[in-house]
Amino acid sequence: MMQAAASSAPGKIILLGEHAVVFGRPAISLAVGLRLRLTARRSNVFELNGSPLSPRIHSYLSNVLERNWKGGPLSFETTSDLPSGSGLGSSAAVTVAALHTLAQLHGNPPQEEKVAREAFIVESEAQGRASPIDTSTSTHGRGLFIDSRQGDGLLWTIRRDERFWHVHDCTVPRMNFVIGHTGISAPTGPLVAKVKRYYDKSGFAREIIDEIGDITLEGRKLLQNGDQEALGRLMTRDHRLLAILGVSCVQLDKLVAAALPHSYGAKLTGAGGGGSMIALTDRPQKVAQEIRQRGGISYIVEAGVPGVRKEEF
Ligand code: MEV
Repeated sequence: MMQAAASSAPGKIILLGEHAVVFGRPAISLAVGLRLRLTARRSNVFELNGSPLSPRIHSYLSNVLERNWKGGPLSFETTSDLPSGSGLGSSAAVTVAALHTLAQLHGNPPQEEKVAREAFIVESEAQGRASPIDTSTSTHGRGLFIDSRQGDGLLWTIRRDERFWHVHDCTVPRMNFVIGHTGISAPTGPLVAKVKRYYDKSGFAREIIDEIGDITLEGRKLLQNGDQEALGRLMTRDHRLLAILGVSCVQLDKLVAAALPHSYGAKLTGAGGGGSMIALTDRPQKVAQEIRQRGGISYIVEAGVPGVRKEEF
């Protein structure tokens, strides 16, 4: 019987299409070189980083265990480059890394598709409404294109209620991204619920969601052609549409404005309401400096990195 196992999983940025993807519209995401590492050891009590595991505080990990673990107590340790509530997929990364380590402890070689499917269920239960974008990106890595139509590079199709998402692998050209974290932690669930209320009430909100979907399809072509200038313009347009949906905030708008003079484009990434923004730029140092000067935390990241993987412990 294996006594311990370790895995690491990456965070993600959404290039185009957050929120709209929850309603089945397309989205593009990239795994980034900020990782969460998780070690699980057989133990006498269930604990995380030395504290007793609490389903209320550690909802994702507790849900993973409830659904996927029949063995004795485990002691988990995590170290992470991803601030929680930063819009960079830290909940998905912990979920995916935990599922990957549990498969190892069970003596099974972890299967990517199985991890991605299960992680989506766990996240949906913990978060409320969700799309599979965060969990699939953390599992597979690289870049993902999610669409309601099947195309080349199909990895898996995920269904929930009447909604479904075809998840495709997407080649990521070399590009420079800078992340600006506002330092404001913003849980995803309430923001997704807020957009849903607006969508249900207003034809205008539904039009905005459709427009974000159209922008994403256009962005996919530009990404394939490596047209960073036009892609950047779409990112900035996407940010304005997300702001109309009510998921930006003063600090996000401030960091986007600070990045824009030195970038092809900039936008909030993830759920918004705080969390982080991204800039596509060929002057990453300058953009990082501008973000820091406005009180943000900057990360110059590699995009398109590998997904969840086994680690030494
Ligand atoms: C969060 O990273 C992305 C959202 O679209 C929510 C989701 O897809 O589950 C806001």
